[in-house]
Amino acid sequence: QRPVRIAPSLLAADFARLGEETRAVAAAGADWLHLDIMDGHFVPNISFGPVVVKALRRQAAIPFDVHLMIAPADPYLQAFAEAGADLISVHPEAGPHLHRTLQTIRGLGKKSGVVLNPATPVSAVENVLDLCDLILVMSVNPGFGGQSFLASQLGKIAILRQMIDASGRDIALQVDGGVTEETAPRCIQAGADVLVAGTAVFGAPDYAGAIGALRGAG
Ligand code: DX5
Ligand code: ZN
Repeated sequence: QRPVRIAPSLLAADFARLGEETRAVAAAGADWLHLDIMDGHFVPNISFGPVVVKALRRQAAIPFDVHLMIAPADPYLQAFAEAGADLISVHPEAGPHLHRTLQTIRGLGKKSGVVLNPATPVSAVENVLDLCDLILVMSVNPGFGGQSFLASQLGKIAILRQMIDASGRDIALQVDGGVTEETAPRCIQAGADVLVAGTAVFGAPDYAGAIGALRGAG
């Protein structure tokens, strides 16, 4: 079985103590740090931008997985790359030329990801697999932490697992939204290999225990 990586979402952290929270999840065994960037336009919430990403970059050595929920995304790719993102994910709906956007991310020397909203079909990504290091399946509508997992997305994860395996490419399959100790095994079973978890990690008293439970689940 493929290894499962855990990417705690900083959105559920204590925003008055972001540096400390970043160090704490890294020390607790997080594989990546998931950073949710929201513009109040593409999604109905505002979080933080490249200045905060840059400030946190010095706090931990784990990969920074930057999930852009902003439109347009293109004008900000360089800023997030320079701020210290290792991976930058974009929604196809955020711009007219997904292929070009992915080329730009790769051109900045970063790994690239495509994010599929609950209503976005797998076909949105199938013609750009050569430019993808990651595909992210949203299991909630983006914008807020703490929402309930949409089981309707499990079938999409399974189809993408088949598509990735058939391609022979090294593409991570990530799931984001409502991932808990209960829903994680179903995601892993369907073929996900990176689990984003906000509330399930930062809402737990013991970060290492929560991360271990998610990883070991399934
Ligand atoms: C939602 C974000 C998620 C969110 C997940 O727009 O993309 O990363 O923080 O939070 P939980 O794990 O609480 O559903
Ligand atoms: Zn996210």
